[in-house]
Amino acid sequence: MPHFSLIPAIALALLGMQTAPADRPTARIQIDVSAPSKPVSQNLYGIFLEEINHAFDGGLYGELVQNRSFEEGVPPPGMKMIPKPDGTFRMELQSLPPGVPQDKWDMPWPWNGNSVWDPKRELIGWSLQKAPGSAGAMDLTEANPMNAASSRSLKLTIDSPGVGLVNRGYWGIAAKSGDVYSLRYFVRPGTFRGTIRTELISESGKVLSSTVNTTIGPATTWREIKGSLKATATDPKAQLRLTFDGIGTLQLDWVSLFPPTWKSQPNGLRPDLAEYLAGLKPSFIRFPGGCYVEGLSFEMAPDWRKTLGLPTERPGMWGYWQYRSTDGFGFHEYLQFCETLKADALYVAFAGMTVHPENNWPLDKIDPVVQQTLDAIEYAIGPVTSKWGALRAQRGHPKPFPLKYVEIGNEHPPAIYGDYYARFRKAIKAKYPQIQVVMSMFWSGLNQPAIDRVGDANIDIVDEHAYRGSGWARSSFDYFDRYPRNGWGIYMGEYAHNQRADFSAALDDSVFLMMMERNGDLVKMASYAPLLANVNKRDWGVNLIEFDSSRSFAHASYYVQKVFRENHPDRSLKTTVTTTPAADPKTPLMAGKIGLGAWNTATEFKELRVYDGTGKLIHSDDFKDLSAFDTPQSGTWSVKNGVLQQTDMRVDPAMLLLKQPLTTGKITVKARRVDGREGFLLFFNAENRDRFLFGNYGANGNEFSAIQERGVPEDCAFRGGRSTPGPIEKGRWYELTLVFTESRSELFLDGKRVSDARVDKLPSFFATAGQRDNDGTIIVKATNYSAQARETELDLDGTDVLKGVGRHIVYQAASLSDDNSLENPTKLVPSERTFPVTGSRIKVMLPPFSVSVLRVPARSNQARQ
Ligand code: AHR
Repeated sequence: MPHFSLIPAIALALLGMQTAPADRPTARIQIDVSAPSKPVSQNLYGIFLEEINHAFDGGLYGELVQNRSFEEGVPPPGMKMIPKPDGTFRMELQSLPPGVPQDKWDMPWPWNGNSVWDPKRELIGWSLQKAPGSAGAMDLTEANPMNAASSRSLKLTIDSPGVGLVNRGYWGIAAKSGDVYSLRYFVRPGTFRGTIRTELISESGKVLSSTVNTTIGPATTWREIKGSLKATATDPKAQLRLTFDGIGTLQLDWVSLFPPTWKSQPNGLRPDLAEYLAGLKPSFIRFPGGCYVEGLSFEMAPDWRKTLGLPTERPGMWGYWQYRSTDGFGFHEYLQFCETLKADALYVAFAGMTVHPENNWPLDKIDPVVQQTLDAIEYAIGPVTSKWGALRAQRGHPKPFPLKYVEIGNEHPPAIYGDYYARFRKAIKAKYPQIQVVMSMFWSGLNQPAIDRVGDANIDIVDEHAYRGSGWARSSFDYFDRYPRNGWGIYMGEYAHNQRADFSAALDDSVFLMMMERNGDLVKMASYAPLLANVNKRDWGVNLIEFDSSRSFAHASYYVQKVFRENHPDRSLKTTVTTTPAADPKTPLMAGKIGLGAWNTATEFKELRVYDGTGKLIHSDDFKDLSAFDTPQSGTWSVKNGVLQQTDMRVDPAMLLLKQPLTTGKITVKARRVDGREGFLLFFNAENRDRFLFGNYGANGNEFSAIQERGVPEDCAFRGGRSTPGPIEKGRWYELTLVFTESRSELFLDGKRVSDARVDKLPSFFATAGQRDNDGTIIVKATNYSAQARETELDLDGTDVLKGVGRHIVYQAASLSDDNSLENPTKLVPSERTFPVTGSRIKVMLPPFSVSVLRVPARSNQARQ
């Protein structure tokens, strides 16, 4: 399928002239070129690369052999192993920094999974194949290492010819008929005499390539073998096999196989993935993390110096995301990649703070850590006469690399992070005043206490992260408009609609990008996260580009970013959007099933009464049986002497829903906590145990009562109001009341109001506009969430519109849950149409579920500014 199709202007003109049915949604976008405009940051669109989800190893980095240097089982430094009953280990720090009490230490919530050590991983990727009659064994050894970087190698004892050593790659090696693969491995023959036969095979053992034969005899030195394998068939699950036709004991290390790489670079990249990244035309690249930068211990935080030099001499490191990095894509390769893509480098330095807030390098001993960062900068941009600049030149790159930003750490919540940041910043600015120093924030919002410690004047730009759920962007369009302007800029270093990977997420991301573009005085840079994921090991739920050994695809959000990047105005213009039909305030947004429940708690209920919106009693239950209720969604429910009992304390939540739904009205019930951690739940607008609104008494381990949500009603935003602190006592009968109208709800405990909340219909249309300085083109971006096409009028009165043809780049889907996939990678790609421009009022039809970019030829308005 072509990525763009051209639909003649005439067809669109006809479409635009159709008479709209009375209920068809419309929009009017009024653009005021004479009002003051804001700059749109020219560096807004960047990318963020982190070793997560096998983004590099088993992904972007071309290496096909998994665990090529047999180091996967080397435990991360600074950690000790505590055995668990299932044979894995829980990793703990060997020691804590001075002043941190031992009993305060625990692996950080919610990342306990990242401290698991599985000893079975040490030979991951490798297996031994013994043909009938052949005998042999393999084991890891630390004897006779190949070089200082390699602490382990594989010892093979071949007792009879024909033993095969197989590597299955990263969930298969993609063999493509006709392609030539570069083979390289190191062998210490030991007592072995015979031939090593190397080839690609299928899972069933069929040979899929030419063969490299190497004959060796006994020796005690390491020898490098190189060759190439030409694939004779295509198989995404191919394996690499070394067959030992001989007898003896030998050692192997660094067994490597590379496919044809991107731009044919040695030690290079997987072409399809590199092309996806290049396609985004990033203006900067953030690297290497993310949490990856922080490490669990100081010792395992990445050290850029160990990622330099020959790939065979890089030790690699166990990473935060639970696998070892080869560092084949190291600091130099990163800088090189930035240069190739004409992107600025944004290097994230270890701040001396690990992922655990307590585990900080003592501030008064931070100088060596700061120096490590200064050295990294020197390597990137220092003169060739400097120590690290000379090394760069020695590696064939005397010219400085485009390093423009250095970020200090990643997501450190304590206020004291400000002091660490300040130390780094001072040292960096003293030597490299041109470097912009990025201050890291946390998951969302600002780390204001840290900012206060530093002072606004000492901040260039802060990196705020935004992993947001459905509807957030739609209900927060003014988020940056309301943001404090304190002299520094914002970098949204990790953002994503993080709930679903589908077209609805892409629409939300488009709105988020509009929010950033129109606040260019504040928001300077942004990068989606995570960017890459191997579908066989997703460490994160929602990612932008996914792949297996041979296939790849980009989610819809990728194309939104691409289209926005390619249609980047220089200034954003004042834009007023009006839509029809208006939301009907009488739509009962909270209507639905109601019910009772509990969270890890045994409870009793009695005297349930339900009233409709007019105050009429419509259901009265004194619990003789459960006939008025659906089969329980969860929990253990029974009735006894007019009391409803829920006894399961492991379930969260226990849920029992009435058969009869409630549109608006009131629920009252008496309730008693019998045992367990919390209090009671009153459900409303409930679909099932995964989607409901609820009054939560004794929430969060019995700390407070509030109206909360687990998933909002379709096309709505939930806005929680006040909550009331205080526990629910055991054994005491309480009177619970929940009242809700079309869009408002209130919660009462013993007659006292403890909480309220609203549900608002979300807008279903968003638009922004901007202008390019060089040719005056007006660029309108519009997102239509509606299932109907929207007849839209651009009002450009006052603009020197040039009569002719406008371009309409449209990205649309048949449904909000639609997306691309491995099987159908280009199902949803943008297409292009044209529309006639005959004056300053332009009619266009915006398709259902779509993101549009409308380019209107106009004369530059700059002269009038
Ligand atoms: O992008 C995935 C992770 O999310 C990053 O490592 C971290 O910075 C964030 O919490």
